[in-house]
Amino acid sequence: MNVLILGSGGREHTFAWKIAQSKKLNKLFIAPGNAGTKNHGENVNINPNDFDAVKTFCLANDVKMIVVGPEEPLVRGVYDYFQNSQDANHIMVIGPSANGAQLEGSKDFSKAFMERHNIPTARYLTFTSENLADGYKFLETLEAPYVLKADGLAAGKGVLILSDLEEAKRELANILSNDKFGAAGSKVVIEEYMHGIECSYFILTDGENYKILPEAKDYKRIGEGDTGLNTGGMGAVSPVPFANAEFAQKVEERIIKPTIKGLKDENIVYKGFIFIGLMNVGGEPMVIEYNCRMGDPETEVVIPRINNDLLEMFEEVGKGNLTTTKLDISNQFATTVMVVSGGYPEFYEKNKVITGIENVSDSIVFHAGTTLNNNEILATGGRVIAFTSFGNSIQEAIAKSYDSISKVSFDKMYFRRDIGKDLL
Ligand code: AMP
Ligand code: GLY
Repeated sequence: MNVLILGSGGREHTFAWKIAQSKKLNKLFIAPGNAGTKNHGENVNINPNDFDAVKTFCLANDVKMIVVGPEEPLVRGVYDYFQNSQDANHIMVIGPSANGAQLEGSKDFSKAFMERHNIPTARYLTFTSENLADGYKFLETLEAPYVLKADGLAAGKGVLILSDLEEAKRELANILSNDKFGAAGSKVVIEEYMHGIECSYFILTDGENYKILPEAKDYKRIGEGDTGLNTGGMGAVSPVPFANAEFAQKVEERIIKPTIKGLKDENIVYKGFIFIGLMNVGGEPMVIEYNCRMGDPETEVVIPRINNDLLEMFEEVGKGNLTTTKLDISNQFATTVMVVSGGYPEFYEKNKVITGIENVSDSIVFHAGTTLNNNEILATGGRVIAFTSFGNSIQEAIAKSYDSISKVSFDKMYFRRDIGKDLL
């Protein structure tokens, strides 16, 4: 089968690396891909949000499956576009319908969905500029810190956590009346703050059957000790030691089963990944958010721990019979450390030459923001390369990731030296 992956980050390189190992694969394409995905298939210069161009390419190249990496094409309806396209509805799209993608595309939708299906999450209310004053009143009933969430997609920047009530009111007004997040902020979810440790679960579903993939913990802040600005993610660890059998059972019974049943009961077509961001509140799992795709860099530790043929699993998802696969998960720890461009997540310089990748032997190198220029690999993104390693303990795996990083260099490279430390 010919397969097209949409996206260009570490998540998509990981999918490409894994799918390239499938005995079912004929040709692999990645749009637009990066310097790393080139090792596993052919990069094609198409914008994942240009559905007409994606379709033309698929028809010309006999592509039978599209694996969607990022959320934006999903929220914009790439699944539905192919379903409704007479000459291309034979192409399987791995990802939810636009309706299903609302789990990520609208915080208000996802909170209301959880409420309808009794899925544990923080108490909340949603406000618009029409009832700003009610928003102020609701904030007064809550305790600090205050959590404000722009309803729509805001490139990971739409959540504000504020310790001061007056500041929370000012920011609420900024989002609702002054367009701080543009259209994404025309509604704001205000919710209670949950105290605990975060952990993420990943489900692959055909809308009826599901497989629970390995869980992971992500490190979002730029600075060591979880300080500084939020990033897309600076590293990840899987498995997560506190997510033991008892916790996992609570997650499945209270969250995963009602989520899948809720989607089915509401006739929401969903053939793809569900990423559930959780807070462990004194041993009880509470949902922070859903995403309609895999996480990045969580994919870089989750997918390498799966020994099954991923393409075979995707085919079952597409056909709606995700039943024959018996998951075979490595019991080793996987860690990944993301190397970024100095300055990220704010301004950073681009096009620095990366050297030494060929000297790495103990880790898998997943490219996130790289471009091949003649024979040089250039750092062109904020997040540049993820170094994934295995070990019998977090310590053993992470030591390999750091040793591999020491072999690679580019001007102003930066990475956190404390990935996984909090779990030891
Ligand atoms: P989200 O974009 O919804 O994942 O939110 C970004 C981050 O904000 C999460 O990863 C959490 O660290 C934090 N967060 C969001 N909602 C809450 C909440 N209700 N209580 C505590 N932390 C939260
Ligand atoms: N690492 C967090 C995310 O992918 O949203």
